[in-house]
Amino acid sequence: MIPTETFSDCVTADAPLCEEKMRVCQNDCIAENVSVRGDGTLLFAGQDVTELAARYGTPLYLMDEHQIRWRCRQYRTTLEDAFGTRCRVLYASKAASFKRLYEIMAEEGLGVDVVSAGEIETAKRAGFPLGQALFHSNNKTDFDISFAMDAGVGCFVADNLEELYAVEREAASRGAVQDVLLRLTPGIDPHTYAAVSTGKVDSKFGFAIETGQAQEAVRETLSLPHLRLRGFHCHVGSQVFSADVYIEAADVMLGFIAGVQAKYGFIAEVLDLGGGFGVRYTADQPVLDIPARIAELAAHLKKEARTLGISLPEIWLEPGRSIVADAGMTLYTVGTVKRIPGYKTYVSVDGGMTDNIRTALYGAKYTILPAGDLFAPRDEICSVVGRCCESGDILQENVPLPSSTGRGDVLACLTTGAYHYSMASNYNRIPRPPVVMLRNGDSYIAVRRETVDDLVRLDN
Ligand code: LLP
Repeated sequence: MIPTETFSDCVTADAPLCEEKMRVCQNDCIAENVSVRGDGTLLFAGQDVTELAARYGTPLYLMDEHQIRWRCRQYRTTLEDAFGTRCRVLYASKAASFKRLYEIMAEEGLGVDVVSAGEIETAKRAGFPLGQALFHSNNKTDFDISFAMDAGVGCFVADNLEELYAVEREAASRGAVQDVLLRLTPGIDPHTYAAVSTGKVDSKFGFAIETGQAQEAVRETLSLPHLRLRGFHCHVGSQVFSADVYIEAADVMLGFIAGVQAKYGFIAEVLDLGGGFGVRYTADQPVLDIPARIAELAAHLKKEARTLGISLPEIWLEPGRSIVADAGMTLYTVGTVKRIPGYKTYVSVDGGMTDNIRTALYGAKYTILPAGDLFAPRDEICSVVGRCCESGDILQENVPLPSSTGRGDVLACLTTGAYHYSMASNYNRIPRPPVVMLRNGDSYIAVRRETVDDLVRLDN
């Protein structure tokens, strides 16, 4: 189902649409900020992407600042409507991490989830108030722990006992008391792809509730004088569409909280249910009504807490993908078209697995469009591939494109705001693309294009 506002935005009033063009719009405009001009040019956040490609070069990451802010506000108001001030939204910055994003998060009043000294330093240099940051990761090194404390990171999420002891030692050496949450695995299967499933008992993350290790961790944490246990965290997985998953996780977590309250008299102040809401990459995927899901979850949490006779802790969420994914688009320029009669047509572009590893890693599906003319008949099925020396460097199989597609044409890959720039690499010593932000009909560079000089700067 296409949101109505997308559909009505699909073309400008100057060109009425025939049925075929309407169908194209419906299929291609998979997010509110994707539209098409009457002449068939693809627009992103209302801007002509072929002009942006000409101006900034390709490959190019575009990000729509308005969309990011709108998502942040949607999360905040939905949570605040449900829980008043007893809630927090923390942007999981692994989804996309660069200074401008931390500035936006600070302006929108969100906290952030960080997982490395690199993310902490980026947030710090953006002026992000690190007291509002939550430090994740399943293996924080002693260096990370001391770096995070130096930077004033507000709260640590402890993943295992060794880490708890290491945080205790570092806090003790500073005469400080560090706030911590414990990451728990509630034993839930999120029904998403295996690589991003994290809530099951055999996960590498967190203390398992089922095995009794979670309870043992609570006892241990409460005995450590330089740690202040604030509550519990779980994250079941990513790209999750099922509503039941969050309800089940909430039940397990609240049951656990009631159990440790009865056993140790410990009252959890915080329940952090992680991130994971799914986004739409292709027209056949649903649009998840996140506010409705949160409202449903909130009602369930309140009811369940009443049934258990406990007061509901402050509720935290850590969305990553659903804040930035559809704010992103990647532009490429076609280099070569290779036809193998009876087999395949390869359309090679100037990017690939270095700027999008998700297809190779997870078999992720994307919408790839001929940016110059969405109304030209797409009469050839192509494999859109990258420029890396690796046969697996495929951006997407079975992409319908005009058979006239050739060198110099611009292709757009939609929904690339999450886990693209942040997972980009320099394989084959290919420089990473810049990130250009779109705002109010204008654009600016948030991350400049890497140069070959950047690539050799660390070599002795
Ligand atoms: N909180 C924790 C503890 C997490 O591990 C994650 C994601 C999030 C929050 C944010 O989840 P999101 O709302 O973005 O789904 N590279 C993979 C995704 C890995 C997700 C890892 N953790 C991908 O490209 O699909």
